[in-house]
Amino acid sequence: MEYRLAVLASGEGSNLAALRGAGVRAALVIADRACGALGVARAQDIPALLIPRGSRRTRDLFDEEVVAALGAFGITHIACLGFMTILGRRMFGAYGGRIYNGHPSLLPAFKGAHAVEDAIAAGVSMTGCTLHEMELAIDSGRIIAQARVPIEPGDAVETLRARIKAREHELYPWALGHVLAES
Ligand code: GRF
Repeated sequence: MEYRLAVLASGEGSNLAALRGAGVRAALVIADRACGALGVARAQDIPALLIPRGSRRTRDLFDEEVVAALGAFGITHIACLGFMTILGRRMFGAYGGRIYNGHPSLLPAFKGAHAVEDAIAAGVSMTGCTLHEMELAIDSGRIIAQARVPIEPGDAVETLRARIKAREHELYPWALGHVLAES
């Protein structure tokens, strides 16, 4: 199947930027807040939508709007790369099995929004990053690819986050390229 990938993002967009160099094309970017990923989309001529996850939108309403936008752009697959809104049943009803998530830890270790902080607090010497198939339960689902990243003595959250991101920029485009080619 010829894929049409949407990237959902809330952050700087460095993982989105890394896709193109690896030959993975995004047909749409959706952000849930004003963020750097929208600028990356603009710079790469990728259509981008801001669907804010404000207090006016319940999770169902947000999902509904996102699913409608994905349908309008003929999207077949979704990659959540630093997307900070939890997806609900409507999204999985429409795209279940074709939604992937990048997470900055070696899942199942350190699930949740503070994976880098939690790894440092736990005092472990190794963490990493994971691309997995998304399901309703947070940071669960079939693991597609993982890479290890050492935690150095004296690491702060920002130094470790930067080291993990550098690895994410290699792993996610490569792994997404494979799953999309196989789908
Ligand atoms: C990545 O480290 C991702 O794993 C985490 O948020 C970060 C997003 O970075 N959930 P960017 O927006 O792609 O630069």
